Amino acid sequence: TWRLDDFANAAIETIREQVGNKRVICGLSGGVDSSVVAALLYKAIGSQLSCILVDNGLLRKNEQQLVIEEFSSHFQTDLHVVDAEDQFLSDLAGIEEPQEKRRRIGHAFIECFKAEAEKIEEAHFLAQGTLYPDVIESGADKDGPAATIKLHHNVGGLPEELGFELIEPLRDLFKDEVRRLGLELGLPEKLVWRHPFPGPGLAVRCLGEVTRDKLKVLREADAIVVEEIENAGLYRDTSQAFAVLLPVQSVGVMGDARTYDNAVAVRCVNTDDFMTADWSHLPYELLARISTRIINEVKGVNRVCYDISSKPPATIEWE
Ligand code: XMP
Repeated sequence: TWRLDDFANAAIETIREQVGNKRVICGLSGGVDSSVVAALLYKAIGSQLSCILVDNGLLRKNEQQLVIEEFSSHFQTDLHVVDAEDQFLSDLAGIEEPQEKRRRIGHAFIECFKAEAEKIEEAHFLAQGTLYPDVIESGADKDGPAATIKLHHNVGGLPEELGFELIEPLRDLFKDEVRRLGLELGLPEKLVWRHPFPGPGLAVRCLGEVTRDKLKVLREADAIVVEEIENAGLYRDTSQAFAVLLPVQSVGVMGDARTYDNAVAVRCVNTDDFMTADWSHLPYELLARISTRIINEVKGVNRVCYDISSKPPATIEWE
C-alpha cells in the first residue's frame, strides 16, 4: 500500500536532485496546498526557499497576520509579504461583473507576484501546489465546456512567461493525501483542516462592486460565522462556511429608530468533491447565535439569511 512517509522522502529526494543549489520561490496563500508545498520544500532545501505572500486586500479577518505567524513558527526562511490592497481595490473599482472581477484579480496577482519575485536574486524555480484534481480540471478547461462555467485563475497557476522552471510536488496527490502529508510534515491540525478559500477571496463574496467599506462589513460578519461554527465543534464536519454580503438593503428597527441596512447571507455546505454540495443542516440554536451576533456586532447589517440551496443548481459561491 501507498505510504505517506515514503512519498515524503521520495519527494524530498527528487526536489533536492532537481533544485541543486538554486533558489526556489513559493507563493503562500494561507491555504493547505501552498503550506504543504512550502513545508515540503523547506524540509528538502531549507534556506534556499523564498516565499511570497500577496495580500490582495481580499483576505479574511487577520489572515495576513495568521499566515505570517504560522509561517515564522515553522520555517526560518525568507518571507516576502506584498501589501497590495490599494492596487487590487483600485483595479476593482466600479467592476460588478464576477468574471471581470476574477480576471482583474488574476492580472493584478501576476503583476504583484512577478514584481516581488524579480527582487529575489537568482530565483530559478517556482513551486506550486497543483493537485491531481487540478491537473485533470485544467485539462478539461482547455478543451471542454468546464472553462465557461467559472474562471479559476489560481488553478493552473502563474503563467510560464514568468520564466521560472516549475516544481509541482503535489501533482499526484488528492486533497486528503495532501492533508495527511501536511500532518506528517508537522503542520498544525488547524491549518491542515482549513476550509478552502477561493483565490479571488472576499471579492466574490462581496456581491457587485467591491469597496473597502463593504469588505470591512463582510470580514466582520464572516469571522463570526467561522468562529461560531468552530465553537459549536462543527468546523471539521462542514466543508465550507462563510458570509456573503448581499447588494440589498432592507428595513429594520433598532431601538426606536428605523434602519435601512445591509443583508448578509450565511453559506455553509457539505461536499466530498465541491462539484456537488448540500447545504449544511446546522442546528437552529447555532444559526440563531450567528444571526444575533452579526446583527448586534457588525455595524451596517440588520438582516441575516441562511442559504439553503444545493449545488447544483446553485453554486457554492454566490458569484
Ligand atoms: P462553486 O462556487 O463553483 O465553487 O460551486 C466550487 C469551489 O471552488 C471554489 N471557487 C474558487 N476557487 N478561484 C478559486 O480558487 C475561484 O475563482 C473560485 N470560485 C469558486 C469555491 O470556494 C468552492 O470551494
